[in-house]
Amino acid sequence: MSKNLVQFIIEEQRHIPGASGNFTGLLSDVITACKIIAHDVHKGALIGVLGSAGSENIQGETQKKLDVITNEIFIRSTEWGGHLAAMASEEMEDIYPIPGQYPKGKYLLVFDPLDGSSNIDVNISVGTIFSILRAPEGIANPTATDFLQPGTKQVCAGYALYGPSTMLVLTTGNGVNGFTLDSDIGEFILTHPDMCIPPDTQEFAINTSNQRFWEEPVQRYVEECVQGKSSGGREKNFNMRWVASMVAEVHRILTRGGIFMYPKDTKDPAKAGKLRLMYEANPMSFIVEQAGGAASTGRERILDIQPSNLHQRVPVILGSKNEVERVISYHQGAYV
Ligand code: AHG
Ligand code: MN
Ligand code: MN
Repeated sequence: MSKNLVQFIIEEQRHIPGASGNFTGLLSDVITACKIIAHDVHKGALIGVLGSAGSENIQGETQKKLDVITNEIFIRSTEWGGHLAAMASEEMEDIYPIPGQYPKGKYLLVFDPLDGSSNIDVNISVGTIFSILRAPEGIANPTATDFLQPGTKQVCAGYALYGPSTMLVLTTGNGVNGFTLDSDIGEFILTHPDMCIPPDTQEFAINTSNQRFWEEPVQRYVEECVQGKSSGGREKNFNMRWVASMVAEVHRILTRGGIFMYPKDTKDPAKAGKLRLMYEANPMSFIVEQAGGAASTGRERILDIQPSNLHQRVPVILGSKNEVERVISYHQGAYV
């Protein structure tokens, strides 16, 4: 019989001396949240969840109804279990402390409840991204500062992809495994063990409508991909994809390789990039590195960044190792 996700995690935790079962309990609540979100996303217009909520989040973005609903689902599914000290979400300005009526635990949960939400009304894949950190030793009532840990400190990172099938992809620092939701039995089943990103690729993903705002190294890299073999700059031709759901792009890269870029640009000098370090860049970089890929801003490894703010944005260049390293070398002024 195929292994389900909870069995997989329990068996993995057995190898960790001193594991108390708290992490497994937390993950099982996160899994429940993702199943409920999958249900709502798949029902769509039938249950009236599409369209705008008419509000703005802390990022200044107009919230979709589902941004608000999925944020609530995540909180309600995980706050009661006794495993968390606090949580933080892309959709909330401040951290969410665990309410007094529930026991507190030692973990911090960070999430983007609905990634790619501009796609929801047009019925294109969206996802959920999450990251689990430890609350600093001896801190029962964490503040926002306690969340500002570099990505290397993540205990676990994962995403759910609500696509033609619903998948959950996860790392606890021991490789990457993918599970597919069997909605008949309500379980995520291990279908993609040991996911690995091929080091080479012929596919890139970037929103080229921002081209005029990119820095020179990214201009050069993309131009060479577009020219392919014809200019003599590259030995192969490239294909391009842009879903506008980071979860879907990363999943494609985990499946068949590729490079994804939301680089630094001059569109808004107040923002270092579009994607958020805590909710998007760090969890995805942990997964990508664990699958043998690389993740960088172009100038530094994303997982090494010391966060300065919960909602901080960073440039993101991730995926197949040899291509990411090429883009990094262009940032260093080197010509490979
Ligand atoms: P979110 O829906 O959580 O705000 O994230 C959207 C992100 C990311 O998923 C995607 O790669 C990118 O924004 C798309 O941006 P553009 O609309 O600029 O292409
Ligand atoms: Mn997002
Ligand atoms: Mn989001």
